[in-house]
Amino acid sequence: MRIMDRKIGYVEVDEEPLHQEIFRNREFRVYRAVLKPGVATDYHRHSKNTVYAALQGGRITTEKMKGTPACPTVLSKSLSLSKRLKLIVQKIFQNSIEIENGFVFYMPSRDFPVIHRAVASVSNSRNMELLGIEILCSNSPVKGDKECSGKIEIETDEIRISRLVIKTENGLDGGDIYGKGVILVLSGTLEVRANGNSKSKNTGDIVEIDWPFSGGIENTGEQDAELLYISGK
Ligand SMILES: [Fe+2]
Repeated sequence: MRIMDRKIGYVEVDEEPLHQEIFRNREFRVYRAVLKPGVATDYHRHSKNTVYAALQGGRITTEKMKGTPACPTVLSKSLSLSKRLKLIVQKIFQNSIEIENGFVFYMPSRDFPVIHRAVASVSNSRNMELLGIEILCSNSPVKGDKECSGKIEIETDEIRISRLVIKTENGLDGGDIYGKGVILVLSGTLEVRANGNSKSKNTGDIVEIDWPFSGGIENTGEQDAELLYISGK
């Protein structure tokens, strides 16, 4: 970890102490940020296209560094018009937004690098927990010719993000997987079988999806499991 350069006043996101890397392969890097109520990150720069998902939501303010350009925010297709309007109104009149558990958005920071910091509201009753999935290499993920089996949340020219809900004792197999990528467990308990091994995965864990996918994912919990599947196109 490098100490923030006081002259420029920000660090790259991979050096920001509250953003902890939890997974990395050639195509994706995933980090987790846990923000206690009232805590702010250091100013940091994002310069890779990034998908964000809230494991534990709350009220948050993002403050762009003075004099630096903004990056557009792409909201999920499934977000209703009323929720979109509510976010816009909160942003304009309160300068902060209330995000729900499972909230997903995307920022095209490769073309629009952004320097900002995030501040969790002091009124939050719990720590906020956010995951960021950086797209490191968009042209190598292998893709199959299958249709997506979940609900498509965000689609760009390089990735597709779909939300899958698996009922208890149900699962996914190769027929549900359409390309190389990562699956993020938004909630639930799963058993993942791959290459003769079996591993348990819980909320916040990452499952690497190879292609062709020969394993299986089963919901072994008592509740529906919710997954976010990010694959290259
Ligand atoms: Fe950030």
